[in-house]
Amino acid sequence: MLTGKHIIVTAGPTHEPIDPVRYIANRSSGKQGFAIAGALAALGARVTLIAGPVTLSTPPGVDRIDVETALEMSTAVDAALPADAAVMVAAVADWRVAPSPQKIKKGANGPPILHLVENPDILAALARNPRRPRLVVGFAAETEHVVDHARAKLARKGADWIVANDVSGDVMGGDANTVHIVSTDGVESWDKLPKGDVATRLAGRIAAALD
Ligand code: CTP
Repeated sequence: MLTGKHIIVTAGPTHEPIDPVRYIANRSSGKQGFAIAGALAALGARVTLIAGPVTLSTPPGVDRIDVETALEMSTAVDAALPADAAVMVAAVADWRVAPSPQKIKKGANGPPILHLVENPDILAALARNPRRPRLVVGFAAETEHVVDHARAKLARKGADWIVANDVSGDVMGGDANTVHIVSTDGVESWDKLPKGDVATRLAGRIAAALD
């Protein structure tokens, strides 16, 4: 059980505005992150779910904070500390644009050039934070060399576990997921499971680790 434990979960995409009517986004549905938040709450945890723009209802017993951009998500994660664990499932946009205050008009100058700026890595920053949760879990969406890339991400980001998933098929928006749990102890590969079952199993593993 996770009674008395506080766990932060990030989920969904982020939207990075280009101007007041347009934005950069990605295909994350938020389903896996919301399922994990619900499974952790079902085990008795106090869960703060920091959600990008999605059309999902809040799982029972979960405190939800809605954000739009990566910068807002980063601020919300800091504000939610301290926590015993953090599960960073969000597909955070890697880049943002310095947004135009007015709608960009089509003009004689041709298509606008978008100058991209790198967003902060929320997971890596949390792993190095003096208030780091005891257990920091990241996700890795990969389309090739899934486990190798996840191992590299584990080291680069300073997470305790990386849950690697192969997104080359219809995972994004779909209802099932094939994941590998990568840690310094090795790799555990799970069969293809409904996202709800991935969430339940992962929540059980987190409860065991925090025990
Ligand atoms: N992540 C984050 N902040 C970012 C980018 C990613 O917190 N600005 C987190 C995600 O929530 C996830 C993990 O980092 O837990 C890996 O995300 P992924 O998109 O797979 O990795 P990237 O760092 O973007 O690496 P790449 O795009 O090169 O694969």
